[in-house]
Amino acid sequence: MPLVTIEKRSFGKTSDNVAVDQFILKNQKGMEVRIINYGGIITSWKVKDKNNVYKNIVLGYDSLAAYEVNSPYLGAIVGRYANRIAEGTFSIDGETYRLALNNGSNHLHGGIKGFDKVVWQAKEVIDETTASVVLRYRSSDIEEGYPGNLEVSVTYTLNNHDELCVAYAAETDKKTIVNLTQHSYFNLTADFNTSILNHDVVINADTFLPVDTTQIPTGEFRSVAGTPFDFRTPKSIGNEINSSDQQLAYGHGYDHCWVRNGKQQESSFIASAYEPTTGRFLEVFSDAPGIQFYTGNFLNAPHPDNKDNTYAARSGFCFETQEFPNAPNQQNFLPVLLHPGQQYETATTFKFYVK
Ligand code: BGC
Repeated sequence: MPLVTIEKRSFGKTSDNVAVDQFILKNQKGMEVRIINYGGIITSWKVKDKNNVYKNIVLGYDSLAAYEVNSPYLGAIVGRYANRIAEGTFSIDGETYRLALNNGSNHLHGGIKGFDKVVWQAKEVIDETTASVVLRYRSSDIEEGYPGNLEVSVTYTLNNHDELCVAYAAETDKKTIVNLTQHSYFNLTADFNTSILNHDVVINADTFLPVDTTQIPTGEFRSVAGTPFDFRTPKSIGNEINSSDQQLAYGHGYDHCWVRNGKQQESSFIASAYEPTTGRFLEVFSDAPGIQFYTGNFLNAPHPDNKDNTYAARSGFCFETQEFPNAPNQQNFLPVLLHPGQQYETATTFKFYVK
């Protein structure tokens, strides 16, 4: 009997008749992650509480149609460029590219049919201690307006230390921009009718990126000290979320990118969340320069169990490790240009404990 297992099941067909599979990764302890190759979506993630009870702690659906109809990126891989690009435009070597304006006057999360809505090739890899699903997708030149044929892979790996690693890689044949992330909405209570406001959060960042009224970073790196954005020591999400603060007003709550402390391109602790009633504790490690902490302020999605219910605002939060939003248009942000011959590589690990 292997220590970790993967089971593959059909998850139905897309509206244009493409078969989709679900991969059920289970470790020796009992943690179970379900991933589909539509959007690379984590549809469910069963994690134990302090009484050893395993329950799903991410917002998701049981049917493919539900994801196709109305999903605010629930559990999905987001790309080619996660987060916002101002006015949906950027230039490379004097050539201007125009992207869909799908978020007011801006471009969001890769466009109309981003990486969250495509079917990826999937391959299972298993050894004694890890179970992986390798997802591959070829995004063609000018797909959603982005230049270059991009070969993308995302590898999800579950181990027996209750860690799920998400490793991203990409190569292009023409200069392009890349920023990939994972968009799970967590609610560690496992009760999605409960808000996430009682989770204690830590974000390992001395600065964050303030935004304008359309949620585009202004270019400033602002100190979190003395602001509701200071999560350097544990603080409940609800503690200051409703305080009068212009940045909280612009985001309708927390919906900002924090700048990870520590060395660039070196993985380190980036954020954690602790839910006191269940004892579930999540730690995130990443080499990404930033993390969008989003408190589900705009959530209003159908609920899987009940037609009259919804996944309401603040019923889940996201820890989206990533490059800085709108970096292609911000001279003072880290560059996000990928050249032919270069490899885009980044990895984020989500680790669970009980306390
Ligand atoms: C963004 C939010 C957006 C949400 C879409 C987040 O990553 O920061 O502003 O509403 O994704 O579901």
